[in-house]
Amino acid sequence: MTDAERSIHDLFDLHGRVAIVTGAAGWLGSAMSRALAEAGAQVVVTSRDPARAADFAATLPGDGHVGLGFQMDYADSIPEFVAQVVRQKKRIDILVNNAYGGTAPSIDTATAEDFDRAYHTGVTSYFLLAREVVFHLRQRRAPGSIINIGSMYGVVASYPDAYTGLGINSPPNYHGVKGGIIHLTRHLAVYWAADRVRVNVISPGPFPSPRVKDAMPEFIERLEAKTPLGRMGMPEELKGITVLLASDAGSYITGQNILVDGGWTAW
Ligand SMILES: NC(=O)c1ccc[n+]([C@@H]2O[C@H](COP(=O)([O-])OP(=O)(O)OC[C@H]3O[C@@H](n4cnc5c(N)ncnc54)[C@H](OP(=O)(O)O)[C@@H]3O)[C@@H](O)[C@H]2O)c1
Repeated sequence: MTDAERSIHDLFDLHGRVAIVTGAAGWLGSAMSRALAEAGAQVVVTSRDPARAADFAATLPGDGHVGLGFQMDYADSIPEFVAQVVRQKKRIDILVNNAYGGTAPSIDTATAEDFDRAYHTGVTSYFLLAREVVFHLRQRRAPGSIINIGSMYGVVASYPDAYTGLGINSPPNYHGVKGGIIHLTRHLAVYWAADRVRVNVISPGPFPSPRVKDAMPEFIERLEAKTPLGRMGMPEELKGITVLLASDAGSYITGQNILVDGGWTAW
Protein backbone atom coordinates (compact mmCIF):
# COMPACT_ATOMS: atom_id res chain seq x y z
CA MET A 1 0.00 0.00 0.00
CA THR A 2 1.35 3.48 -0.85
CA ASP A 3 1.32 6.24 1.78
CA ALA A 4 -1.30 8.10 -0.24
CA GLU A 5 -3.73 5.17 -0.46
CA ARG A 6 -6.72 5.59 1.83
CA SER A 7 -8.31 2.74 3.74
CA ILE A 8 -11.72 1.42 2.76
CA HIS A 9 -13.14 2.89 5.99
CA ASP A 10 -11.88 6.37 5.08
CA LEU A 11 -13.19 6.10 1.54
CA PHE A 12 -16.76 5.26 2.63
CA ASP A 13 -16.76 7.71 5.56
CA LEU A 14 -19.25 10.58 5.23
CA HIS A 15 -18.56 12.41 8.51
CA GLY A 16 -18.60 16.16 7.95
CA ARG A 17 -20.75 15.96 4.79
CA VAL A 18 -24.33 17.16 4.41
CA ALA A 19 -26.75 15.21 2.20
CA ILE A 20 -30.24 16.09 0.96
CA VAL A 21 -32.65 13.21 0.29
CA THR A 22 -36.01 14.10 -1.29
CA GLY A 23 -39.10 12.01 -0.54
CA ALA A 24 -36.97 10.64 2.29
CA ALA A 25 -39.72 9.24 4.48
CA GLY A 26 -40.91 6.92 1.70
CA TRP A 27 -40.23 3.22 1.19
CA LEU A 28 -36.82 3.45 -0.49
CA GLY A 29 -35.87 7.02 0.53
CA SER A 30 -35.93 6.05 4.20
CA ALA A 31 -33.36 3.25 3.73
CA MET A 32 -31.10 5.48 1.61
CA SER A 33 -31.33 8.25 4.26
CA ARG A 34 -30.41 5.79 7.01
CA ALA A 35 -27.46 4.56 4.92
CA LEU A 36 -26.06 8.09 4.58
CA ALA A 37 -26.61 8.82 8.28
CA GLU A 38 -25.02 5.52 9.33
CA ALA A 39 -21.98 6.40 7.19
CA GLY A 40 -21.66 9.67 9.13
CA ALA A 41 -23.43 12.29 7.00
CA GLN A 42 -25.88 14.84 8.33
CA VAL A 43 -29.05 14.24 6.36
CA VAL A 44 -31.60 16.84 5.32
CA VAL A 45 -34.76 14.87 4.64
CA THR A 46 -37.75 16.26 2.79
CA SER A 47 -41.45 15.53 2.66
CA ARG A 48 -44.38 17.57 1.42
CA ASP A 49 -45.70 17.13 4.96
CA PRO A 50 -43.53 19.00 7.51
CA ALA A 51 -44.56 16.70 10.39
CA ARG A 52 -43.63 13.61 8.37
CA ALA A 53 -40.22 15.14 7.56
CA ALA A 54 -39.55 16.08 11.19
CA ASP A 55 -40.73 12.74 12.58
CA PHE A 56 -38.63 10.78 10.12
CA ALA A 57 -35.54 12.97 10.67
CA ALA A 58 -35.81 12.25 14.40
CA THR A 59 -35.50 8.50 13.75
CA LEU A 60 -32.15 8.74 11.98
CA PRO A 61 -29.25 7.20 13.86
CA GLY A 62 -26.77 9.59 15.46
CA ASP A 63 -26.61 12.27 18.08
CA GLY A 64 -29.75 14.24 17.26
CA HIS A 65 -27.96 16.63 14.89
CA VAL A 66 -27.82 14.03 12.15
CA GLY A 67 -31.31 14.44 10.71
CA LEU A 68 -33.14 17.61 9.77
CA GLY A 69 -36.67 17.55 8.39
CA PHE A 70 -37.71 20.03 5.70
CA GLN A 71 -41.08 20.59 4.10
CA MET A 72 -40.50 20.53 0.35
CA ASP A 73 -42.69 19.99 -2.69
CA TYR A 74 -41.09 19.89 -6.13
CA ALA A 75 -43.80 22.41 -7.07
CA ASP A 76 -42.28 24.98 -4.64
CA SER A 77 -39.34 27.32 -5.24
CA ILE A 78 -36.23 25.17 -5.45
CA PRO A 79 -33.69 28.04 -5.08
CA GLU A 80 -35.46 29.09 -1.88
CA PHE A 81 -35.32 25.54 -0.50
CA VAL A 82 -31.58 25.24 -1.22
CA ALA A 83 -30.87 28.67 0.29
CA GLN A 84 -32.75 27.63 3.44
CA VAL A 85 -30.71 24.42 3.75
CA VAL A 86 -27.44 26.31 3.26
CA ARG A 87 -28.49 28.87 5.89
CA GLN A 88 -29.13 26.10 8.41
CA LYS A 89 -26.45 23.55 7.55
CA LYS A 90 -23.80 25.82 5.92
CA ARG A 91 -23.04 23.29 3.22
CA ILE A 92 -24.47 20.64 0.90
CA ASP A 93 -22.24 17.88 -0.47
CA ILE A 94 -24.64 15.16 -1.60
CA LEU A 95 -28.09 15.19 -3.20
CA VAL A 96 -30.34 12.16 -3.66
CA ASN A 97 -33.20 13.07 -6.00
CA ASN A 98 -35.55 10.27 -4.98
CA ALA A 99 -39.09 11.71 -4.75
CA TYR A 100 -41.57 10.85 -7.46
CA GLY A 101 -45.23 11.75 -7.67
CA GLY A 102 -46.62 10.62 -11.01
CA THR A 103 -49.96 8.97 -11.71
CA ALA A 104 -50.39 5.41 -13.05
CA PRO A 105 -52.69 5.52 -16.10
CA SER A 106 -52.88 2.82 -18.78
CA ILE A 107 -51.54 3.36 -22.30
CA ASP A 108 -55.14 3.81 -23.50
CA THR A 109 -56.07 6.46 -20.94
CA ALA A 110 -52.85 8.43 -20.25
CA THR A 111 -53.30 12.17 -20.74
CA ALA A 112 -50.93 15.04 -21.41
CA GLU A 113 -51.41 16.02 -17.77
CA ASP A 114 -50.24 12.59 -16.61
CA PHE A 115 -47.07 13.09 -18.67
CA ASP A 116 -46.54 16.71 -17.55
CA ARG A 117 -46.90 15.85 -13.88
CA ALA A 118 -44.60 12.83 -14.09
CA TYR A 119 -42.00 14.81 -16.04
CA HIS A 120 -42.16 17.71 -13.60
CA THR A 121 -41.58 15.55 -10.51
CA GLY A 122 -39.20 13.04 -12.14
CA VAL A 123 -37.03 15.08 -14.54
CA THR A 124 -37.56 18.87 -14.45
CA SER A 125 -37.38 19.12 -10.66
CA TYR A 126 -34.46 16.68 -10.44
CA PHE A 127 -32.58 18.96 -12.85
CA LEU A 128 -33.51 22.24 -11.13
CA LEU A 129 -32.58 20.95 -7.68
CA ALA A 130 -29.33 19.40 -8.90
CA ARG A 131 -28.35 22.64 -10.68
CA GLU A 132 -29.05 24.70 -7.58
CA VAL A 133 -26.84 22.38 -5.53
CA VAL A 134 -24.11 22.72 -8.18
CA PHE A 135 -24.35 26.54 -7.97
CA HIS A 136 -23.79 26.21 -4.21
CA LEU A 137 -20.84 23.80 -4.68
CA ARG A 138 -19.25 26.17 -7.21
CA GLN A 139 -19.40 28.99 -4.69
CA ARG A 140 -17.66 26.77 -2.14
CA ARG A 141 -15.28 25.38 -4.79
CA ALA A 142 -16.17 21.99 -3.32
CA PRO A 143 -16.73 18.61 -4.98
CA GLY A 144 -20.12 16.93 -4.76
CA SER A 145 -22.17 13.87 -5.62
CA ILE A 146 -25.63 13.88 -7.15
CA ILE A 147 -27.63 10.66 -7.26
CA ASN A 148 -30.82 10.51 -9.30
CA ILE A 149 -33.20 7.62 -8.74
CA GLY A 150 -34.19 5.98 -12.02
CA SER A 151 -35.73 2.56 -12.57
CA MET A 152 -35.13 -0.62 -14.52
CA TYR A 153 -38.14 0.69 -16.49
CA GLY A 154 -35.93 3.51 -17.74
CA VAL A 155 -33.84 0.83 -19.47
CA VAL A 156 -36.18 -2.00 -20.46
CA ALA A 157 -39.86 -2.25 -21.37
CA SER A 158 -42.15 -4.00 -18.92
CA TYR A 159 -43.62 -7.42 -19.72
CA PRO A 160 -47.32 -6.83 -20.57
CA ASP A 161 -48.19 -10.30 -19.23
CA ALA A 162 -47.03 -9.32 -15.75
CA TYR A 163 -49.91 -6.83 -15.57
CA THR A 164 -52.70 -8.46 -17.62
CA GLY A 165 -55.97 -9.00 -15.77
CA LEU A 166 -54.81 -7.52 -12.46
CA GLY A 167 -56.22 -3.99 -12.92
CA ILE A 168 -52.80 -2.36 -12.61
CA ASN A 169 -50.62 -0.61 -15.17
CA SER A 170 -47.01 -0.12 -16.04
CA PRO A 171 -47.68 3.54 -16.91
CA PRO A 172 -46.25 5.00 -20.13
CA ASN A 173 -45.44 8.32 -18.44
CA TYR A 174 -43.22 6.45 -15.93
CA HIS A 175 -41.25 4.77 -18.71
CA GLY A 176 -40.73 8.09 -20.52
CA VAL A 177 -39.61 9.88 -17.38
CA LYS A 178 -37.22 7.23 -16.08
CA GLY A 179 -35.58 6.85 -19.51
CA GLY A 180 -35.26 10.63 -19.57
CA ILE A 181 -33.57 11.01 -16.20
CA ILE A 182 -31.03 8.30 -17.02
CA HIS A 183 -29.97 10.09 -20.18
CA LEU A 184 -30.09 13.58 -18.65
CA THR A 185 -27.74 12.27 -15.94
CA ARG A 186 -25.09 11.42 -18.55
CA HIS A 187 -25.33 14.92 -19.99
CA LEU A 188 -25.06 16.63 -16.60
CA ALA A 189 -22.16 14.40 -15.55
CA VAL A 190 -20.14 15.50 -18.56
CA TYR A 191 -20.77 19.21 -18.03
CA TRP A 192 -20.40 19.22 -14.24
CA ALA A 193 -17.23 17.10 -14.24
CA ALA A 194 -15.32 20.39 -14.54
CA ASP A 195 -16.87 21.39 -11.19
CA ARG A 196 -15.81 18.04 -9.64
CA VAL A 197 -19.47 17.13 -9.27
CA ARG A 198 -20.29 13.51 -10.06
CA VAL A 199 -23.78 12.64 -11.29
CA ASN A 200 -25.09 9.07 -11.36
CA VAL A 201 -28.34 7.12 -11.38
CA ILE A 202 -29.37 4.25 -9.16
CA SER A 203 -32.03 2.25 -10.99
CA PRO A 204 -33.93 -0.09 -8.70
CA GLY A 205 -35.65 -3.16 -10.04
CA PRO A 206 -38.79 -4.48 -8.31
CA PHE A 207 -38.94 -3.26 -4.69
CA PRO A 208 -42.66 -3.38 -3.91
CA SER A 209 -43.73 -1.96 -0.55
CA PRO A 210 -45.47 -4.24 1.98
CA ARG A 211 -48.77 -2.58 1.01
CA VAL A 212 -48.35 -3.66 -2.63
CA LYS A 213 -47.03 -7.11 -1.65
CA ASP A 214 -50.01 -7.78 0.63
CA ALA A 215 -52.60 -6.44 -1.81
CA MET A 216 -51.30 -8.19 -4.94
CA PRO A 217 -49.71 -11.58 -4.26
CA GLU A 218 -50.27 -12.79 -7.82
CA PHE A 219 -48.51 -9.73 -9.25
CA ILE A 220 -45.54 -10.38 -6.95
CA GLU A 221 -45.39 -14.02 -8.07
CA ARG A 222 -45.31 -12.92 -11.70
CA LEU A 223 -42.50 -10.42 -10.99
CA GLU A 224 -40.51 -13.00 -9.05
CA ALA A 225 -40.71 -15.38 -12.00
CA LYS A 226 -39.07 -12.71 -14.17
CA THR A 227 -36.26 -11.95 -11.72
CA PRO A 228 -33.15 -14.15 -11.92
CA LEU A 229 -32.67 -13.97 -8.13
CA GLY A 230 -36.30 -15.14 -7.83
CA ARG A 231 -37.41 -12.59 -5.24
CA MET A 232 -38.22 -8.92 -4.75
CA GLY A 233 -35.63 -6.38 -3.56
CA MET A 234 -35.51 -5.10 0.01
CA PRO A 235 -34.77 -1.39 0.68
CA GLU A 236 -31.56 -2.21 2.57
CA GLU A 237 -30.22 -3.60 -0.70
CA LEU A 238 -29.93 0.00 -1.94
CA LYS A 239 -27.88 1.16 1.04
CA GLY A 240 -24.47 0.01 -0.20
CA ILE A 241 -24.73 1.57 -3.64
CA THR A 242 -26.02 4.83 -2.15
CA VAL A 243 -22.99 5.23 0.11
CA LEU A 244 -20.62 4.06 -2.64
CA LEU A 245 -21.85 6.75 -5.04
CA ALA A 246 -22.13 9.44 -2.34
CA SER A 247 -18.65 8.92 -0.90
CA ASP A 248 -15.03 9.09 -2.03
CA ALA A 249 -15.23 5.32 -2.58
CA GLY A 250 -17.05 6.22 -5.81
CA SER A 251 -14.81 9.15 -6.74
CA TYR A 252 -14.09 7.86 -10.28
CA ILE A 253 -17.70 6.92 -11.06
CA THR A 254 -19.75 9.47 -12.97
CA GLY A 255 -22.39 9.47 -15.70
CA GLN A 256 -23.42 5.90 -14.86
CA ASN A 257 -26.72 4.15 -14.38
CA ILE A 258 -26.28 1.41 -11.77
CA LEU A 259 -29.03 -1.20 -11.86
CA VAL A 260 -29.96 -2.90 -8.59
CA ASP A 261 -32.54 -5.29 -9.96
CA GLY A 262 -31.88 -8.89 -8.91
CA GLY A 263 -30.65 -9.52 -12.46
CA TRP A 264 -33.92 -8.44 -14.16
CA THR A 265 -32.11 -6.61 -16.98
CA ALA A 266 -29.49 -9.36 -17.43
CA TRP A 267 -31.96 -11.64 -19.20
N1 LIG B 1 -40.44 0.80 -5.15
C1 LIG B 1 -40.01 0.33 -6.32
O1 LIG B 1 -40.23 -0.84 -6.68
C2 LIG B 1 -39.24 1.21 -7.27
C3 LIG B 1 -38.66 0.64 -8.41
C4 LIG B 1 -37.91 1.43 -9.27
C5 LIG B 1 -37.76 2.77 -9.00
N2 LIG B 1 -38.33 3.31 -7.89
C6 LIG B 1 -38.13 4.75 -7.67
O2 LIG B 1 -37.66 4.94 -6.34
C7 LIG B 1 -38.07 6.22 -5.85
C8 LIG B 1 -38.77 6.04 -4.51
O3 LIG B 1 -39.89 5.22 -4.68
P1 LIG B 1 -40.66 4.52 -3.46
O4 LIG B 1 -41.08 3.18 -3.93
O5 LIG B 1 -39.87 4.64 -2.22
O6 LIG B 1 -41.97 5.42 -3.41
P2 LIG B 1 -42.63 6.24 -2.22
O7 LIG B 1 -42.58 5.48 -0.95
O8 LIG B 1 -43.97 6.69 -2.74
O9 LIG B 1 -41.68 7.50 -2.09
C9 LIG B 1 -41.72 8.59 -2.98
C10 LIG B 1 -41.88 9.87 -2.19
O10 LIG B 1 -41.90 10.98 -3.09
C11 LIG B 1 -42.51 12.06 -2.39
N3 LIG B 1 -43.19 12.95 -3.36
C12 LIG B 1 -44.26 12.66 -4.15
N4 LIG B 1 -44.59 13.73 -4.88
C13 LIG B 1 -43.72 14.73 -4.54
C14 LIG B 1 -43.55 16.08 -4.93
N5 LIG B 1 -44.37 16.66 -5.81
N6 LIG B 1 -42.58 16.81 -4.37
C15 LIG B 1 -41.75 16.26 -3.46
N7 LIG B 1 -41.86 14.98 -3.02
C16 LIG B 1 -42.85 14.24 -3.56
C17 LIG B 1 -43.49 11.44 -1.38
O11 LIG B 1 -43.12 11.91 -0.11
P3 LIG B 1 -44.13 12.78 0.83
O12 LIG B 1 -45.50 12.18 0.64
O13 LIG B 1 -43.55 12.52 2.18
O14 LIG B 1 -44.00 14.17 0.34
C18 LIG B 1 -43.21 9.95 -1.45
O15 LIG B 1 -43.07 9.37 -0.17
C19 LIG B 1 -38.97 6.81 -6.95
O16 LIG B 1 -38.20 7.69 -7.77
C20 LIG B 1 -39.40 5.59 -7.73
O17 LIG B 1 -39.75 5.88 -9.06
C21 LIG B 1 -39.08 2.57 -7.03
